Amino acid sequence: MAKILVTGGAGYIGSHTCVELLNSGHEVVVLDNLSNSSEESLTRVKALTSKYLDFVEGDILDQQILDQIFAAHAVDAVIHFAGLKAVGESQQIPLAYFDNNIAGTISLAKAMERAGVFRLVFSSSATVYDEANISPLNEGMPTGMPSNNYGYTKLIAEQLLQKLAAADARWSIALLRYFNPVGAHKSGCMGEDPQGIPNNLMPYVTQVAVGRREKLAIFGNDYDTPDGTGVRDYIHVVDLANAHLCALNNRLKNSGCRAWNIGTGKGSSVLEVVKTFEQVNGIPVSYAFSPRREGDVATSFADNARAVAELGWQPKYSLEDMLADSWNWQKRNPNGYRK
Ligand code: NAD
Ligand code: UFG
Repeated sequence: MAKILVTGGAGYIGSHTCVELLNSGHEVVVLDNLSNSSEESLTRVKALTSKYLDFVEGDILDQQILDQIFAAHAVDAVIHFAGLKAVGESQQIPLAYFDNNIAGTISLAKAMERAGVFRLVFSSSATVYDEANISPLNEGMPTGMPSNNYGYTKLIAEQLLQKLAAADARWSIALLRYFNPVGAHKSGCMGEDPQGIPNNLMPYVTQVAVGRREKLAIFGNDYDTPDGTGVRDYIHVVDLANAHLCALNNRLKNSGCRAWNIGTGKGSSVLEVVKTFEQVNGIPVSYAFSPRREGDVATSFADNARAVAELGWQPKYSLEDMLADSWNWQKRNPNGYRK
């Protein structure tokens, strides 16, 4: 059993990870500024697990709050989810992204060093890979120059953490490169709750299905893919949450910095997602084809062999499970965590 500081723990992936941590007997302290979440997600984490967790409302850029947390809790490791993640917004307000995602990671690492805590699991993204790589993407392939500022912040944060671990052997850092997280907790009590118009496919689909949006725009049907629509590697958020527990265990035994892809290894097209959603849930989803979205690649899916071999992690859930669970959450909570 360990005590884990979870930054961004009130968010979509963080809250699901808190459930898995608590159910595995770990103690959890969450630091979140609630800029893209609400405390209601943590209320539900506690209700689902019948366990207690500490919540501190605050910012990872705030050194004083970080020092207070490390002074008050004997933290063994940190899982760092906190950050901004909207690709389009990152083009409009780059400084906010540089600050939260790059300076925020530096701020956290500085406080960890002062506190003598050196185990870190970092939320990275498949977006760090060079677009010229052909899927399945493996960790040995070159990273590139992401087409947007969000992706750039993930790449820079990865590189800073790699240099930190290279310079000081006390650090043990996992870079988890997520593919496309979707789905929700089986209970239907927790799920993804984006503010405003969703940027990502899955919440858009469920919001059309529940009647909050009229029609899904499918961005491009002329890609070089089996049905012309974009192919991605969708991964159930609970499988993703469990990958963090596996990475934590690995980091307790090893030093250095290492990257792992967290995906299923299977690509699905946008049309396949829509059709499977309709079949599994018996709900129609209206859609129309529209032009390609700037910055999108045709195909991206993982080679997950390294995570399977080294972390002892294995994704359990199928695309059908992901789509059933996303819908179960949305229909029970048409307005997300808001009443
Ligand atoms: P999310 O927005 O639901 O969660 C992020 C949480 O961090 C939110 O609760 C937000 O309030 C908090 N936060 C943001 N800035 C903060 C700050 N400065 N100080 C304290 N808290 C702050 O997003 P998510 O989907 O759960 O993503 C978690 C992490 O995974 C992010 O770093 C994201 O970039 C990364 N990631 C997400 C995806 C995805 O598709 N969801 C894919 C790859 C990587
Ligand atoms: N799509 C649509 N309509 C929508 C939304 C998405 O057709 O309304 C399509 C996209 O074109 C793409 C697929 O659905 O083919 C998946 O799109 P998402 O926006 O859900 O996911 P992305 O693969 O674009 O995004 C992921 C991560 C980001 C990361 C980005 C980098 O969610 O964190 O990859 O490419 F930055």
